[in-house]
Amino acid sequence: MRPALVRAAIANAEAAGFEHSSGDATGRLLAVLAASKPGGRLGESGTGYGVGAAWLVAGMAAGARLTTVEWDVERARAARALFADDPRVTVLTGDWTALREHGPFDLLFCDGGGKRDDPDGVVGLLAPGGVLVLDDFVPATTWPPRYAGEVDVLRMRYLTHAQLTATEVQVAPDMAVVVGVRSVADGGGLGRNDSGT
Ligand SMILES: C[S@@+](CC[C@H](N)C(=O)[O-])C[C@H]1O[C@@H](n2cnc3c(N)ncnc32)[C@H](O)[C@@H]1O
Repeated sequence: MRPALVRAAIANAEAAGFEHSSGDATGRLLAVLAASKPGGRLGESGTGYGVGAAWLVAGMAAGARLTTVEWDVERARAARALFADDPRVTVLTGDWTALREHGPFDLLFCDGGGKRDDPDGVVGLLAPGGVLVLDDFVPATTWPPRYAGEVDVLRMRYLTHAQLTATEVQVAPDMAVVVGVRSVADGGGLGRNDSGT
C-alpha cells in the first residue's frame, strides 16, 4: 500500500519524467526506520520529487523532524509544495553539505550528494546511534561484494567504515540497501578492525 503523499510525489516525478525516485521496497524500509526514531532528527540528501521523503513522513512520529536537500531548483520547489502543510518537514534548495547546519541526524537517507564523493562527510552527519541508509545497490552474494565483476569499492567503504556497524539488506530481488549505525563514542562497530574477512 502506498500512502497518499507517496502517490502524489510519484505523480509529480512521473509528470516531470524523473526516473530516479526510490522504489516501494526501499520506501517501506524508510518508513519503518523513521518510526523507530520518535522525536528524532531525520535527514535526506537528494530529495528528488519527494518520494523517499514521503515514505519517511509516513513513518515519522509527531515529534520527529525531517530536513531534506535538493540542488535542482524545480525538484526542490515541487517537494516543498508537497510538504507545505507539514511543519515537521523542511525542504532546502542547495548542496547536500547544507545538511551540516541541521544535524546531527538520528536517521539519514543519503540518496544524492555525498554518497560517492564524501563517505566520511556523510557518516559525520550522524548522531551516535544514528542510522544511515543508502540504496540502489545490486544484491551481493559474495564477500567482498562485486558489481559488474569488480569489487564494489563504494559499498565496501560503508560496510567497513570504522565508525559504522553496517550490513546489506536485500529489500527486493534487484535491490539492496546498506544500513549502518554510527558507533557511540567510536567504541565499537563491525568496521573498526577492517579485517577484510
Ligand atoms: C536518486 S535521486 C533522489 C531520489 C529521492 N531521494 C527519492 O527517494 O525519490 C538523487 C537526487 O539527488 C540530487 N543531487 C545530486 N547531487 C546533489 C548534491 N550534491 N546536493 C544536493 N542534491 C543533489 C539530484 O538532483 C537528484 O534529484
